Amino acid sequence: MVGVPNSTRYLTHHNTFYNSGEGSRKKGSFPIFAAMQVVVSGTRPTGVLHLGNYLGAVRNYVRMQDDAAYEGYFFIADYHSLTTHHQPHELRSLVKQTTAAYLAAGLDPEKVTIYLQSDVPQIPELYLLLNMLAYKGELEKVATFKEKIKQHKENINAGLLTYPVLMAADIIIHRAHKVPVGKDQEQHLEMTRNFAKRFNSRYDVDFFPEPVAFNYDAELVKVPGLDGGTKMSKSGSVSSVIFLDDPDDVIRKKIMRSKTDSGPTEPNTTPPQEIENIFVLMEHVSDTSAVAHYRKAYSDCSIRYGDMKKQLAEDMIAFIAPLRHRINETLANEAYLERVLQEGGEKARESAKKTIHEVRNIMGLNYF
Ligand code: TRP
Repeated sequence: MVGVPNSTRYLTHHNTFYNSGEGSRKKGSFPIFAAMQVVVSGTRPTGVLHLGNYLGAVRNYVRMQDDAAYEGYFFIADYHSLTTHHQPHELRSLVKQTTAAYLAAGLDPEKVTIYLQSDVPQIPELYLLLNMLAYKGELEKVATFKEKIKQHKENINAGLLTYPVLMAADIIIHRAHKVPVGKDQEQHLEMTRNFAKRFNSRYDVDFFPEPVAFNYDAELVKVPGLDGGTKMSKSGSVSSVIFLDDPDDVIRKKIMRSKTDSGPTEPNTTPPQEIENIFVLMEHVSDTSAVAHYRKAYSDCSIRYGDMKKQLAEDMIAFIAPLRHRINETLANEAYLERVLQEGGEKARESAKKTIHEVRNIMGLNYF
């Protein structure tokens, strides 16, 4: 084989030097001296982000960007939102909304790479290659697929079945180590590891790291809904979810109407789920003294839910309003959004190209 001379050295996107060419086909020829760990995460642009997305995911991204240990790639998974029927004009506006929310939450295009999945053609290329290693049987067993086929019997398409393969391509295209996602993505991540391992062992290389879920807190952050449910989720009712673009009066209304019971009748009892949810939400946005005050009032039965909700509503407004203002400001500046995504796309493609180049070499898709 005519390879790149062994003395040729490339600086990879992980600050790693290694020999390319013939040597790259052998196990152990991809030493990972990486100073930084690569972090990848994405959001499907299927709705305006809500408090749960913000506290559970996006805030973690921002923390990682300021941590010198990590090199971050954060993207909008627009291809992933096509597995269910979509409206083109809605997609356009949701992609902008989600990008604006990333920026408003503090993601900094100077520190991390912010881009659209569909701006990186190497992702679908790797997806195609990984599809050759993905078995129909394992894909059919995925919980999210089984759920989706129940929800959309009329549209069980191949994209839905291979959703985890595309997600794996998103992640390993940058040879990522860490993926900040919630518990609901654990199975997808496990499949990503399987595909990475399968590739490595099929071609006898040590090329793709096996990426793991990442969270700063030992326990995943809990953000309950306002309907008594344990998780704020866009599949719940609109009134149970606080969206990052909700105006003040909407936030106030949603909170004042949230589910409560008739109140404690005996001292020192454990609050029911819907009341505990209000405490938990307060813990996210209110002063600790306010939370302590209402916890105590619950214990001695002097609590007035109306007062507690008013407190939560005002603190929630103080928390959300600055985010909403920044989102709206960013959305109004189309040229800025476009520039961020263009520059991010370039950086993402650069990193992706290096991976694809090696993958093609490893697989024998390099002919001359
Ligand atoms: N499946 C993820 C979700 O529904 C979105 C996603 C797509 C993703 N590709 C990814 C998350 C890569 C992390 C990494 O939330």
